[in-house]
Amino acid sequence: MTNLKGKDILHGNQFLEKDIEAIIKMASNIEKALKKKDSFTLLKGKILATLFFEPSTRTRLSFEAAMQRMGGGVISLGSVEGSSVAKGETLTDTVRTISQYADVIVIRHPRTGSAKEAADAVSIPVINAGDGTGQHPTQALLDIYTIYKELGSFKELVVSMVGDLKNGRTVHALVELLSLYQSRFYFVSPKSLRMPEEITSHLRKKGIKVEETEDMLKAANASNLIYMTRIQKERFTDLTEYERVKGSYIIDETFLKKLRKKMTILHPLPRVDEITPEVDRYPGAAYFRQVKNGLFLRMALLSMVFGKTL
Ligand code: NCD
Repeated sequence: MTNLKGKDILHGNQFLEKDIEAIIKMASNIEKALKKKDSFTLLKGKILATLFFEPSTRTRLSFEAAMQRMGGGVISLGSVEGSSVAKGETLTDTVRTISQYADVIVIRHPRTGSAKEAADAVSIPVINAGDGTGQHPTQALLDIYTIYKELGSFKELVVSMVGDLKNGRTVHALVELLSLYQSRFYFVSPKSLRMPEEITSHLRKKGIKVEETEDMLKAANASNLIYMTRIQKERFTDLTEYERVKGSYIIDETFLKKLRKKMTILHPLPRVDEITPEVDRYPGAAYFRQVKNGLFLRMALLSMVFGKTL
C-alpha cells in the first residue's frame, strides 16, 4: 500500500515503511499547522460515523474531534442499547445502513475479525478502532508517531512491552509496525498473559529478537522504551484469575529510582494501577503527549483516506 485513499485500516501488518513515513509526515504537518489555526476545511462535506460496541474515551473522541477539526461532520451510534442492535440487528446490516449516510466508518467491537467483516460488507472505508483482542492499528500508528517524536528515530530500538500481552490489541498491532524497523523486544508478563505464540513466532521468523521474561526491571534496564499496558479485566472469564494477576507490574517512584538511565514510558491508557500518578512528573513519562499525538495522527489518517494532503 502506498496510497491510503479509499482504503480500510484494519491491521498493523498492512503498512510498509514508506506508508509510515508518509503518515508521520502528514501528522507532523497537521501538528505544525494547528499551531497557527484551530481547524481546516479539507474534509468539508464529508461525514464520519463512529460505531462503538465497547467503551472508549480517547479513540472515539479523538476521531470525532479530528473529523470536526478537518471541517467534516460526525454521526455516532451513541449507545448500543439505543440502536437497533438492541433489537438483534446484525453487524453487517448495521454497517450497511450506516454506509448510506456516512463516508467513512470507525468501528470498535468485542469480536476479533469484526472490523474486517464490516469492511467486507460496505464499499466505504472502514477503520478498525479495536476488534476484541485482535488489532488496534490507529493506536499503533499514534504510538509510532510518539516514538518518532520522543526518540527521534526507530534505530536501535529496544522495547519492553509490559502487562497483558495476551489480550492487549494495542501491543498486537504495535509489534507489527515496530518489526519493520528491526526493533528488539522484551515481552514482560505473568505466564498466563504471555504474547500469543503465533505473534512471537511470526516475529522470530522475520529475524526479530524477542525475549520473554517476568522481570520488568531487568528488561527495562536493557531497553530504551517501556510500553506499559492495562490488565484487560473485561477479557477474563475467570475473575479469580484476574485478581491473581492484577497489580503484577507497577511503575512507581521506587521503580524509577532503580532505572539505570532515562527511559521513555508509553501507555495507550486507560491506566488502572500500573503507573502511579507521581510518575507523571518523570520527564520520560510520555503517555499524555501520546494522547495529544492521537489527535494529529487521526486527522492525518482521515485526510489521507479521503486522498487529501496538507
Ligand atoms: C486501549 C484499547 O481499547 O485497546 N485503549 C485505547 O484505545 N487507547 C487499551 C486498553 O483499553 O487497555
